[in-house]
Amino acid sequence: MTLKTPPEIGGMGHRVKRREDPRFLRGQGNYVDDVVLPDMLYLDIVRSPYAHAKIANIDTSKALAIPGVLAVITGKDLEKYNLHWMPTLMSDTQMVLPVEKVMYQAQEVAAVLATDRYIAADGVDAVEIDYDPLPVVVDPKKALEPDAPVLRTDKPDKKDNHIWHWEWGNREETDKLFSEAEVTVKEDIYIPRIHVSSIETCGCVAHFDKVRGKLTVWMTTQAPHAIRTVFALVAGHVGLSEEKIQIISPDIGGGFGGKVPVYPGYVIAVAASVLTGKPVKWIEDRMENIQADSFARDYHITAELAGKKDGQLTALRIKTIADHGYTDAAANPSKFPAGLFHVCTGSYDLKAAHVEVDGVYTNKPPGGIAYRCSFRVTEAVHTIERMADLMAHQLGMDAAEFRLKNFIQPEQFPYTSALGWEYDSGNYAGALRLAMEKVGYADLRKEQIEKRARGELMGVGISSFTEIVGAGPSKHFDILGLKMFDSAEIRVHPTGKVLARFGTKSQGQGHETTYAQVVAEELGFPVDSVLVEEGDTDTAPYGLGTYASRSTPVAAAACAMACRKIKDKARKIAAYLLEAHEDDLEWEPGKFFVKGSPDRAKTIQEISLAAYTNHPPGMEAGLEAVNYYDPPNLTYPFGSYICVVDIDKGTGEVKVRRFVAIDDCGNIINPMIVEGQIHGGLTMGLGPALFEEIQYDESGNILQGSFMNYLLPTAVETPNWEIGNTVTPSPHHPLGAKGVGESATVGAPAAIVNAVVDALWHLGVRHIDIPITPAKVWKLLRDAGVRE
Ligand code: CDP
Repeated sequence: MTLKTPPEIGGMGHRVKRREDPRFLRGQGNYVDDVVLPDMLYLDIVRSPYAHAKIANIDTSKALAIPGVLAVITGKDLEKYNLHWMPTLMSDTQMVLPVEKVMYQAQEVAAVLATDRYIAADGVDAVEIDYDPLPVVVDPKKALEPDAPVLRTDKPDKKDNHIWHWEWGNREETDKLFSEAEVTVKEDIYIPRIHVSSIETCGCVAHFDKVRGKLTVWMTTQAPHAIRTVFALVAGHVGLSEEKIQIISPDIGGGFGGKVPVYPGYVIAVAASVLTGKPVKWIEDRMENIQADSFARDYHITAELAGKKDGQLTALRIKTIADHGYTDAAANPSKFPAGLFHVCTGSYDLKAAHVEVDGVYTNKPPGGIAYRCSFRVTEAVHTIERMADLMAHQLGMDAAEFRLKNFIQPEQFPYTSALGWEYDSGNYAGALRLAMEKVGYADLRKEQIEKRARGELMGVGISSFTEIVGAGPSKHFDILGLKMFDSAEIRVHPTGKVLARFGTKSQGQGHETTYAQVVAEELGFPVDSVLVEEGDTDTAPYGLGTYASRSTPVAAAACAMACRKIKDKARKIAAYLLEAHEDDLEWEPGKFFVKGSPDRAKTIQEISLAAYTNHPPGMEAGLEAVNYYDPPNLTYPFGSYICVVDIDKGTGEVKVRRFVAIDDCGNIINPMIVEGQIHGGLTMGLGPALFEEIQYDESGNILQGSFMNYLLPTAVETPNWEIGNTVTPSPHHPLGAKGVGESATVGAPAAIVNAVVDALWHLGVRHIDIPITPAKVWKLLRDAGVRE
């Protein structure tokens, strides 16, 4: 990409250092737990040891006797205000505090309000609760059996645990292609529950000012405006009115989708502040975060792929059971209960496809978090990339050659997929060929043959993924009816400095730098003269927030469009100052000049001053603009990853020897930040591929409830990521950019699994569910008769 601005301006493509980092590196960030207000009270939560039980009695007397404990709040207290249940983002209902029964282990049962956090914790230990255990349903397949206990007894008409059925695509055409297929492959793929393990847990400080009637909540949320509206809708009847609710998302220590939902703790803290008139702080500890917050994935998939003997793919058929826990609290656009799972045809030119998904209730915390992923895209990519590999192996074709044969070709874009998505642009073969060259693919295949002959286990795995990000065009995308646009408000001050505010909210992605670069690119103000603000609903324009890699596709586009409005006005002011006709002016970054007379120029700073001091008669003073951007389409970033693994025959341990990642996110705003996003994203793909899983025993006890056994990759396990990129601009985005934040997390796991299966295929191994633990591989090796 050619740079349009010099380094001193620092527009798109410059490796500008992250402007937010000095405060983070010096420990001077301002996170929710840093907020301390006079007379602040502390909230801590009593949680259920049972996964399904009636609450027989709650005895608060011992807790209330502790000096400093002010109140114990129960579901019955909230019921008086009709605040014991709340709506979820998918229009289901979720308990704030239970009145009758608990539905999962670690569910909130009561909350203790105290003058000190440690006293609140003592209070939690002293609350005595009698439970009558009920039968527990953990397995979603068993939950669908006719004799399974019905879990949602709060819904009088509910006679089973089935939430919804959703299907998409052309069933008849797909079935026909399967009946005509020369070759088919079928596999059961389980994508387990995993947990968003942000460095910062969730929490809030709620402050209801009784005199002004205003509620201010500092909150770990990725979507402050949407939260404000939800609070107003849910609690309007107790006097919370939207203009008097201020949600502040200060610095956020990682979100990854886990800070989109409204957790009961937030609501209880708000209720406690409204009742007491004092600020109330609630901060989860690590174990609460991992055990009780919403989870990601948990898809039980059966996939089939059809094709011809020469390797040409024709059709894809998928059935899925989606375990949603006890309520459907997924953060999906309302129209798509299975998110964007139907991007599962991936990078391949298929004739037809059909997808069915059934949502199911179980005794687990709510699921459906879009963990660094645009709503089920990880599940979709994992499925198609595993199935493509399976088909290639089945046919005895090289996995790269097979993909190159089936890719959508560059000239086919814009391309309508078999399931109806309009892919904006792509060059899949370009990315795969570059990855093959970088990794030395041909040599690796030779090495593999030699090693196999010596009995060594080495595999090479490919994942050529297509992502779908930038939710979204309002014709398809809304959350609780709120259309999924986003916004930018740009104000240019008289001295040529800029304040740029957005409806999104960075959680570590570097928006304070990249949005400033967009302003620099469009208006020629140096990056350092642009202040970016997000996350305060009293000052930022309304937006739907940051998740699903939507900030660049939507808010950065809003930024460019607002800047272009400003530039139009700046041109008029420059024409007036230069006594020239607007059409005779030319732009170069930072100034307008008269065509053919570069000396007759006005800098953007001179124009800024004139906007307030010497603007043309009849023109409004000032230089500012707002844009609410409704994208015409989503953006479709893509990439090709190649992973090389060696497997230890004695222990079953998988060692990722090399991992080459070629990404394409269109035009890049800041290459250094994008590289950081890919590095982090790849590590978040490695974790679920090899280590991370949340499981429950038959009684609903969580088995990985702390970092002792929920294994996150550390620097020791993380390989040296070898990254590179191609650039295929998005034709509809004003900057030609696509999102990138989640690409690597979405694309990486399949490359790793494909490499492991590639190493073991000759032993009869066809598929391994993630995480690929040494124990699973060891057993497969022993079953195949392999000894050290
Ligand atoms: O919505 P979120 O910020 O999580 O995801 P994103 O839009 O993919 O952006 C992640 C970070 O990468 C932001 O700071 C973007 O501005 C930056 N980025 C970039 O510099 N160029 C791109 N083409 C895409 C993202």
